[in-house]
Amino acid sequence: MPNPFDDPVLAGRYEAWYAGGGRHADVLEKELLGKLLDRFPDVHTVLEVGCGTGHFTRWMAERGLDAMGLDISEPMLKEARRLGGPRYLSGNAVSLPFADRSHDVTALITTLEFLADPLRALVEAVRVARQGVLLGVLNRWSVLGLRYRLSGKALWRSARFFAPRELVDLARCAADRRVKTVLWRTTLWPFPGVRDLPLHCGGFIGMAVILHEEISA
Ligand SMILES: C[S@@+](CC[C@H](N)C(=O)[O-])C[C@H]1O[C@@H](n2cnc3c(N)ncnc32)[C@H](O)[C@@H]1O
Repeated sequence: MPNPFDDPVLAGRYEAWYAGGGRHADVLEKELLGKLLDRFPDVHTVLEVGCGTGHFTRWMAERGLDAMGLDISEPMLKEARRLGGPRYLSGNAVSLPFADRSHDVTALITTLEFLADPLRALVEAVRVARQGVLLGVLNRWSVLGLRYRLSGKALWRSARFFAPRELVDLARCAADRRVKTVLWRTTLWPFPGVRDLPLHCGGFIGMAVILHEEISA
């Protein structure tokens, strides 16, 4: 399946969305992801798989984490490197160039939606993680998800949205015996003043898959 993020024009414009129309979403997503990151036992190193322009990788580095980004799109990586900050490398989510349990946390933020084989990517994310996996995913059962799906834009036609329940099942399947706890909440509610809630209908699902460190998969 072609990767829409291989388009240098899209890559060049991507970061501007967070500073413009996506500003509010950015604040709420980081707020929720930050809360979930705090639920892992003792995080120092994070690998963001599908880091794109490094928007969240830089944010994690700013939080004091040793963060690294990986992406398959050279135009997105070029933007990430131009913007500076953490280390970035080229790679595929379904075959990560790292040893088992080599990072405290692996993160996939708005990336599972664009992968041909999300389960395989999650199995890889679990393999290289010691403490767990942090997910940020657009919710199929939300006003936002519906709006994107009905927009008819090529980017969103190529995306696969998830529902919270479905994402929990996928994460549990990928992590198997290593799952300790799965925590999730949603944000981007169409009501002013609402931050994040443990309810199924918010536009963006944040999920922490906390793993047993001592158990083998
Ligand atoms: C919507 S962007 C998300 C970027 C960043 N995480 C963010 O939220 O701003 C999805 C990213 O996933 C990357 N991607 C798609 N397939 C991939 C794969 N098989 N391996 C690694 N990255 C992939 C794309 O190139 C793109 O940069």
